[in-house]
Amino acid sequence: MTEKKLSIEEIKAKIKIVCICKGIKQGRICEAIQKGANSVEKVNKQTGSGDGGCKATRCGPVIKKLIENKGKVILEPYETKIDDDDYGF
Ligand code: FES
Repeated sequence: MTEKKLSIEEIKAKIKIVCICKGIKQGRICEAIQKGANSVEKVNKQTGSGDGGCKATRCGPVIKKLIENKGKVILEPYETKIDDDDYGF
C-alpha cells in the first residue's frame, strides 16, 4: 500500500485548529466531510465542533467553506473571527 506523501503546507493545514473553542483541527473536519458529513450540523455532530462558547460563530463559516471545498484542506491562510464580545468583555 502506498500512501500519498503530504507536503509541509498540507500537514500544516491539517493540524490547524478550525474550532478554537473545542480544539478541532482542519484534518478532522475534512475527514468527516469526506465520510459524508455534508452540512455544518452533521460535521459538528461527528466531530464535536460548533458546541463551544461561541456557538460556531467562528468555526461555522470555515466548516461551510470546507464543505464547499469537498473536504479538501484549505492551504491558504484563513482567519476564524474572534471578537471580544465572544468572551463577554
Ligand atoms: S470555534 Fe467552534 S464553537 Fe467556537
